[in-house]
Amino acid sequence: MKSVLAALIIAVLGVPLAQAKTDYHGLPPAGAAALGAPQATVCAACHGSNGIGTSPVYPNLAGQNFNYILKQLENFRSGARKNSIMSAMAMTIPPSKDHANLKDIAAYFAQLKPMWTHASAGTAADHAQIELGKSIYQHGVARKNIPACAACHELGGEGNDPMAIPVLAGQHAAYLVTQLQQFASGARHNTPGHVMHMIARQLNAKQEAALAAYLRQLDPATSLGIGPKDFSAYARMVVARHAPAGEAARRSPAAAAGKSAH
Ligand code: HEC
Ligand code: HEC
Repeated sequence: MKSVLAALIIAVLGVPLAQAKTDYHGLPPAGAAALGAPQATVCAACHGSNGIGTSPVYPNLAGQNFNYILKQLENFRSGARKNSIMSAMAMTIPPSKDHANLKDIAAYFAQLKPMWTHASAGTAADHAQIELGKSIYQHGVARKNIPACAACHELGGEGNDPMAIPVLAGQHAAYLVTQLQQFASGARHNTPGHVMHMIARQLNAKQEAALAAYLRQLDPATSLGIGPKDFSAYARMVVARHAPAGEAARRSPAAAAGKSAH
């Protein structure tokens, strides 16, 4: 995936490889989620006690990828990503050696029942809008140089944990639109190689809304063909597919032994 991503960034967007560095911190340390739970209570006012944002402008964090959450918290703290609320909130997390406190909180949200299992089928979006979003997501728009989102965020919208690429499936539509607009304007500029800026600035408002409507109701389990919302089978598959050799075995002996659902 790493080489595919690098090739894609260069081929489609003309970004030098050196800029596309990744922030891989491995899997959460053992016991981290339990340590993160009490620290995360302050976050619940906006992100929900179940990791589902209490308003559509507060992103869902439930089941978001560990390495992505960690990177965002680091980015809010360093100023690489700016938001008046979150920049302040991230600074309230006590400093610790090797970002241990940030890892604990990230691990806590990453293991919550994932956001797409909360997605409601009945959104205001109409069928045509969802179909347009699906088409852009899976195939891009060649004449506007927009690559398929699925190339990086994966077909199911589950992102890629080792690459710190976020889950989009089941995310609040209003939040997704805001982020695409912020990438387009350059207000959010924390993507390696400015990939998301180059993509989002090619999208018009109709396409942004269609993508958000599609992603809001997307369920990765369906696209992976393992039955709707079977999270344990899904998790084994993702770990087996994305985690570096050895780590899959550490997390799930069944997956490493090839016993995962296929
Ligand atoms: C008062 C409301 C509020 C509180 C409390 C809050 N957040 Fe946030 N959080 C936000 C908003 C708003 C955003 C979206 C920022 C943006 O638009 O860039 C956000 C974004 C994030 C993101 C980025 C999500 C993504 O998909 O990119 C992370 C991670 C995050 N918050 C973690 C936390 C953690 C951890 C805490 C507790 C220590 C916390 N937040 C407390 C409002 C809040
Ligand atoms: C070349 C890889 C690549 C492609 C193609 C790509 N993305 Fe991304 N996207 C990323 C990365 C990496 C990030 C994380 C940025 C960061 O570190 O904050 C991201 C972040 C995002 C976010 C922010 C999510 C959040 O929780 O804040 C949204 C929304 C998004 N992408 C939507 C899209 C859409 C829609 C498309 C297709 C039109 C797309 N992306 C195509 C790599 C890609």
